[in-house]
Amino acid sequence: MADVRCICAIGLSGQLGLKGQLPWEGDPRPEFRADVERFFDITRGHVLIAGPKTIASVPEFAYAERTIRAIRSHEKPEDVLAEYQDRVVFVGGGPPVWDIYAPLIMHWDITRLPYDGPADRWFDPKWLLTGKGRPL
Ligand SMILES: NC(=O)c1ccc[n+]([C@@H]2O[C@H](COP(=O)([O-])OP(=O)(O)OC[C@H]3O[C@@H](n4cnc5c(N)ncnc54)[C@H](OP(=O)(O)O)[C@@H]3O)[C@@H](O)[C@H]2O)c1
Repeated sequence: MADVRCICAIGLSGQLGLKGQLPWEGDPRPEFRADVERFFDITRGHVLIAGPKTIASVPEFAYAERTIRAIRSHEKPEDVLAEYQDRVVFVGGGPPVWDIYAPLIMHWDITRLPYDGPADRWFDPKWLLTGKGRPL
């Protein structure tokens, strides 16, 4: 079974995306640059699966050192993950992907960045709490 993880960065209010990019895209401040570098360090040698828009934003150089695959809504998560037995698989979003894959993710690596501007994609904390054991 694959070791299924998530790595993502969010703004102070849970901002994830804006117009197909990171909301803070191009921000030159060190913490933003360090986050991008960290993403490539941590995913090196592993598998990154994500929806087609997120994959479209992955730069060409990233393909050299990791397995990168666009996933589609007609594919069953268990079939996708079965392709990567014994690998570390990072589920890279966006939100509709995490809605479905969250119950399978046992390690969340979330960086909060000092951004609090607009977004059209948001982190949903319910992704961390997919068990049924909590009393209503
Ligand atoms: N801050 C971060 O760390 C971070 C991480 C990821 C993304 N983002 C941002 O989020 C935005 C992109 O996300 P997005 O949601 O708009 O587009 P996306 O990355 O294409 O992901 C959503 C799409 O994934 C596909 N998909 C694959 N498997 C699925 C499944 N089992 N269930 C449902 N859908 C599935 C669906 O497309 P089909 O129906 O066409 O297959 C769905 O519309 C960008 O702004 C990006 O920068 C930010």
